[in-house]
Amino acid sequence: AKRVRIHHLQELKERGEPWPMLTAYDMYTAELFDEAGIPVLLVGDSAANNVYGYETSLPVTVDELIPLVSAVTRSAKKALVVADLPFGSYQLSPEQALATAVRFMKEGRAHAVKLEGGKAFAPHVRAITNAGIPVMGHIGFTPQSEHNLGGYRVQGRGDAGETVLADALALQEAGAFAVVMEMVPAEVAKKVTHELHIPTVGIGAGPDCDAQVLVWQDMAGMRRAKAPRFVKRYADVAGVLLNAAEQFAADVRGREFPAPEHAFH
Ligand code: KIV
Ligand code: NA
Repeated sequence: AKRVRIHHLQELKERGEPWPMLTAYDMYTAELFDEAGIPVLLVGDSAANNVYGYETSLPVTVDELIPLVSAVTRSAKKALVVADLPFGSYQLSPEQALATAVRFMKEGRAHAVKLEGGKAFAPHVRAITNAGIPVMGHIGFTPQSEHNLGGYRVQGRGDAGETVLADALALQEAGAFAVVMEMVPAEVAKKVTHELHIPTVGIGAGPDCDAQVLVWQDMAGMRRAKAPRFVKRYADVAGVLLNAAEQFAADVRGREFPAPEHAFH
């Protein structure tokens, strides 16, 4: 299988073909989503609350994320793997951003990195892209800033729509190859998608983005908590696993497992 490259994503935008993106944090999900033809896998800092058990994305560290990035890049043969830079690992300076991006590329074997923030982070994006590392931006609702944004809220309503567009243009100008827009009005996302020549990736940003991303545990029903309105649940993986574990437990307690065929003599 030939590796997906950033120019392929650009070509999809130019042809008007929307593409899917999912998070992945381990071997089996990376293999399965790769086989399903998902061209871009994101090792999100959402591992904080979907793998590591933190309440928000803020506590997760570079040292916690790099092994997950390695697992995904070892397992996906075709997908382009994007590593999310976690809170505190890039905000201090463009130099810190580049140093962290280099770690994800060298130690995690990522193909690109992603960071949150608009205009104020254009210099950080520029420092990384100047080093030859592709960068995906992330604007609108940015979970690492949830305490400043006042919780999970739609961003870019009314006049603030112009800020979303200005942020997107600044990231494009700084060399970003794509921009995630999270929880922004569909009308704003449509306008930004039209104005940018690079692809936009929506999550809670309506149908007109060039791509759509979901956290896989939300998409497949692994997470049982009530999902935000922008999530569509395609399976009940949690139900399947719960049922399997309950049957295994009952079989052991009832001396049904192991059966004769599972034993060596
Ligand atoms: O960390 C993450 O999963 C993300 C996506 C939801 C875009 O940033
Ligand atoms: Na993220």
